Amino acid sequence: MNSTMQKISIEKVKESKIDQVDFNNLAFGSVFTDHMLVCDYKNGAWETPKVVPYQPISLDPSAKIFHYGQSIFEGMKAYKDTDEKVWLFRPLDNHKRLNISAKRMSIPEIPEEFFMEGLKTLLEVEDKWIPQTEGSSMYIRPFMFASGNGFHASPANAYKFMICLAPSGAYFSGKVKVLIEEKYSRSANGGVGYAKTGGNYAGQFYPTQLAVEKGYNQVIWTDDHSHEYIEEAGAMNIFIRINDTLITGPTSDRILDGITRKSILQLAEKKGIATEVRKITVTEVVEAAKNGSLKEMFGAGTAAVVSPISAFGYRDVDYDLPELEDSYASQIKKDITDIQYNRSEDPFGWRVGL
Ligand code: PLP
Ligand code: COI
Repeated sequence: MNSTMQKISIEKVKESKIDQVDFNNLAFGSVFTDHMLVCDYKNGAWETPKVVPYQPISLDPSAKIFHYGQSIFEGMKAYKDTDEKVWLFRPLDNHKRLNISAKRMSIPEIPEEFFMEGLKTLLEVEDKWIPQTEGSSMYIRPFMFASGNGFHASPANAYKFMICLAPSGAYFSGKVKVLIEEKYSRSANGGVGYAKTGGNYAGQFYPTQLAVEKGYNQVIWTDDHSHEYIEEAGAMNIFIRINDTLITGPTSDRILDGITRKSILQLAEKKGIATEVRKITVTEVVEAAKNGSLKEMFGAGTAAVVSPISAFGYRDVDYDLPELEDSYASQIKKDITDIQYNRSEDPFGWRVGL
């Protein structure tokens, strides 16, 4: 990482498209702001990032991203408080994880300054786009991929680091119903499950589509070896509540080390909720659903925030979860979003002002 960064250049659009956006009805990740950040890696070094108008990019058809899938990404959000001040949530953790993914996928790591200064500059340019409406935020998508070309199956010699922004509402539009999967696997020991790399998501599309056809929204993956243990869902980590204890599985090289997951564990402990990080068997979840001790199940992630699961399917049987008045999911969602939107104290020092 021998790159030095000069001042980030900014080329602004002639006309903003912001007036075409209905900020009261934002879907997730489908509207993009006027500008994006682009940073090239060439001749063994990262060049200074540039903010340019949002536009298609030109790539050689033999660029290695198309053939060998050398690509990684992150998911973050920026939140605007009632005084119009903008906040990020644990952004250095995203930078760290991007570089963990980069290392696994043989992509050169991006220096912290390039990531943080690039992100802050882009968000400052797009300040007007950052929603203030309840339940909305600016979804941030940093990503890196092999732009260098050649059919030789080896790492490319050129890469791009980019950031695009999408003012967004909720990821799930209604109740989340999940299917516990035991035929297909998302990841394997020694594989790339812990990296946020495109193929981990593409590989889920087909089994998830089969689940969607049966009326589910997401798949809950089990371990590839025995299919006896709950791992995570397609876009979020999973928590279960048995009686009063909140439980999540341990991370491993098969599972994404979610920033929301680890924040929730700290928040729950601070609230005095008993937590356990341990392997969760499918059998115990099914038994707990049958005997009524399974009180809640929810997903946790940047896009998903805290998403309560209303039912899960396993081996052709659906198990409904009770609707609780004051669920852990609703308490924790309130606590974490209060910190993110600067509505409460931040005892953990997670919030970073722009
Ligand atoms: N697991 C997967 C597969 C994900 O894509 C995500 C989303 O980023 C998560 C878990 C949750 O991670 P985080 O809370 O850092 O967004
Ligand atoms: C996120 O939560 O930021 C993610 O990256 C999940 C993605 C599949 C939308």
